[in-house]
Amino acid sequence: MRPEAAFNGYVVTNFCLLLHEAQIFDLFSNKEKTISEAGFVRFVESKNRKIPLQANELIDFGVRFSIFERPDRASLRLSDNGISWLDNRAFAVWMIGGYGAYLRKTIMHSQNDDATPQDSINGEYVAIGSQMANRAFMNDVFLDLLDEYRPKCLVDLGCGSGARLVTACENDSRCFAYGIDINRDAVKLAGTAVRSHDLDDRVEILHGDALERGSELGQRIDRPIDVVMSFMSMHDIFNLYGPRESARRILSNFNEPRYVWVADTVKSDTDGGQPLPIFTSGFELVHAFQKIDLFSRETYIDAFESAGARLVQQRYLNVPNTYAMIFKTG
Ligand SMILES: C[S@@+](CC[C@H](N)C(=O)[O-])C[C@H]1O[C@@H](n2cnc3c(N)ncnc32)[C@H](O)[C@@H]1O
Repeated sequence: MRPEAAFNGYVVTNFCLLLHEAQIFDLFSNKEKTISEAGFVRFVESKNRKIPLQANELIDFGVRFSIFERPDRASLRLSDNGISWLDNRAFAVWMIGGYGAYLRKTIMHSQNDDATPQDSINGEYVAIGSQMANRAFMNDVFLDLLDEYRPKCLVDLGCGSGARLVTACENDSRCFAYGIDINRDAVKLAGTAVRSHDLDDRVEILHGDALERGSELGQRIDRPIDVVMSFMSMHDIFNLYGPRESARRILSNFNEPRYVWVADTVKSDTDGGQPLPIFTSGFELVHAFQKIDLFSRETYIDAFESAGARLVQQRYLNVPNTYAMIFKTG
C-alpha cells in the first residue's frame, strides 16, 4: 500500500470518528443527505466548543477528504464517499476508539516499561463499535435466526453492549436471556441497556470469563437452554481453552443447549496482490499485537463436531471473512 494512501487513510478515519462522535453524520440522515450550510454552522456552534474544530474547518476538511460536497453555495451534501463512511463508521469507532490508544501504547511500550498497554483497550468503544457493525451489517441475519429457531432461553458469551440480548427479548416476550462479558465497561453498558428497556426481569448480565463464570451460571439456569451464542468473541475463548476444549465446555457447562450459534471473523487467506477489504487487516493486527490467534472456519466446525454437535447452517455476515455457524447438539 502506498505510504500516501495509508497515511491519508489514517487521517480520514480519525476525521470520520470525529464526525460520528460530534453527531455530525446524523445531520445528514435525510433522504437527500443534504443540510443547509447555515444549519450546519448553527449545529456546530450549539455544541459549545465540545467539537475540536470550528464549522468552517470541518467543512473545509470534509470537502478536501471528499466526504462533503457543495451542491450549491448554501448547502452541504454527503458525497457517495461520505455515504459509504456513514455506513462504515462502526469500523472507525471500533479501530480508533477501541484500539487506537492501545496500539500506540504497545508500540511505545518497548521503549517505556511503565506503560500497561492492555489497560488502554477501550472496552466501551470496542463494544459500541461492535454493536454499530452488528446493526449495520449483521442484524438481518440475527433476526432471521431468532425467527427460525425462536429461543426461549438464550445465553450470550461475550455479550458486549447487550444489544443482542435486548433484541432477542423484545422480539419474544417469553424469552429469558443471560449475558456474560469479561470486560467491566461492557458489562456496565449492557446493564444500562437492559434497564433502559425494562428487561431486568428477563435478562441477567454477569461479569467474568465466559466459561469460568459460565459454569456457575449453567448450574443455576433451571429451564432448558435453547441457544448458547457467541458473536465475535469465540476466538478469544478459543485462545484461553483451545478450540476443542472450549466447545466441549460450552456444551457441558450449559447443559447441552439445543443449539450453539457462533459468529466470528475467521482467518483470511493472505494474498498480498489483492486490495484489502475494510476491517479484516485491522482485526488481524490488533489480535496479533495481543498474541491472540485467529482460526479458520474448519477449526470452528471441527471443534464443535468433536464435542458432538453438527453444523446445520452457515451464513455470511456482510463483513469480510465473517460468518455465522449454527450447530445442533444431540
Ligand atoms: C468484539 S466484542 C463483541 C461483543 C458482542 N458479542 C457483539 O457482537 O457486539 C467481543 C466481546 O467479548 C468479550 N470477551 C472476550 N473474551 C471473553 C471471555 N473469555 N469471556 C467473556 N467475554 C469475553 C469482550 O470483552 C468483548 O466485549
